[in-house]
Amino acid sequence: MTDVPPRESVVSKLFRSEQGGHEQVVLCQDRASGLRAVIALHSTALGPGLGGTRFFPYPSDDAAVEDALNLARGMSYKNALAGLDHGGGKGVIIGDPATDKTPELLRAYGRFVATLGGRYVTACDVGTYVADMDVVATENPWTTGRSPQNGGAGDSSVLTAYGVFQGMRASARTLWGEPTLAGRRVGIAGIGKVGHHLVEHLLADGATVVVTDVRAEAVAAVCERHPGVEVADGTGALIRAGLDVYAPCALGGALNDDTVPVLTATVVCGAANNQLAHPGVEKDLADRGILYAPDYVVNAGGVIQVADELHGFDFDRARAKAAKIYDTTLAIFERAAADGIPPAAAADRLAEQRMADRTPAESWLRPTVA
Ligand SMILES: NC(=O)c1ccc[n+]([C@@H]2O[C@H](COP(=O)([O-])OP(=O)(O)OC[C@H]3O[C@@H](n4cnc5c(N)ncnc54)[C@H](O)[C@@H]3O)[C@@H](O)[C@H]2O)c1
Repeated sequence: MTDVPPRESVVSKLFRSEQGGHEQVVLCQDRASGLRAVIALHSTALGPGLGGTRFFPYPSDDAAVEDALNLARGMSYKNALAGLDHGGGKGVIIGDPATDKTPELLRAYGRFVATLGGRYVTACDVGTYVADMDVVATENPWTTGRSPQNGGAGDSSVLTAYGVFQGMRASARTLWGEPTLAGRRVGIAGIGKVGHHLVEHLLADGATVVVTDVRAEAVAAVCERHPGVEVADGTGALIRAGLDVYAPCALGGALNDDTVPVLTATVVCGAANNQLAHPGVEKDLADRGILYAPDYVVNAGGVIQVADELHGFDFDRARAKAAKIYDTTLAIFERAAADGIPPAAAADRLAEQRMADRTPAESWLRPTVA
């Protein structure tokens, strides 16, 4: 006998998570190519599950299943608040992309996506790229994130940055009364694909921009293009640099017990996924009077872009949809104020409401693919 409660099994999580469990999980194995993958569908209440494919050397098969379950659930929430007629799904391929990725393996994965008949729509994620999606797409019509030559939209960071900028405008409106960053000091940690586009939006809007990046060449490139941009020596210096807005655009976990107490910014709004290091950080931010624009809401421009591919990609249409991130972020702040909860909790409530309000449309069972 032991007092230690039994560890919850992955299967139990699948059926009985707090969020109501997942609809379907597919374990995929192709011995010829060595493919081992998991495709998890959390919800198709709003339409086909949409979410990228992660290629990662998981420490165990259970860890891979668990990651797929978590990521798929996250996509349900993200897609619901992005206003997409898509539920949440995610694929993970177990292995090291540097050594295990082959065209045969990607094609085998594409055939498993095909077996779901449109219930799951895939895209890029960590460890998979546009060129990989071109290969996966040879086996099914439900693959997005392809290259423009193959009917895809290419790099999603343009609309991701645009969406983050809309989230910042909504934050400015909520805190300072006007939807503009003009005259504000904005710090960006990570000026990679998304961050450097964000610099341009902010400068055009009249903000002062301070950047930091671990890659000296990324900093040099931005400074060469925009000589007025200031540089901070590391994220620690950036967040103490008298900011109005802090935009984490590098890795997850940027908001934690070390950083939140020393933030100078009164708004946090950035592209990085999973910015809150652990549950409770959203409350710490609220207690310090810092307005946090939930990451999965403001960084949805990328998924809005890939969803548009299914209808034959139209940049202007996708951009118009990404512009609505402004309204969604405002609605979240209003709900947070009305319910007396942090914006991260308000975002979850709004997403759950949208999923509960809708029953699956018959039309998505046979989606139109360009
Ligand atoms: N690209 C998209 O469309 C998209 C969509 C949604 C979310 N995101 C998220 O946004 C973030 C940025 O994405 P990206 O596509 O620009 O990635 P990227 O790899 O192009 O850029 C990240 C940048 O952060 C820098 N960096 C890494 N560690 C750092 C640190 N400790 N301090 C400062 N800089 C650091 C890197 O050098 C790099 O320049 C990621 O968290 C990503 O998951 C991206």
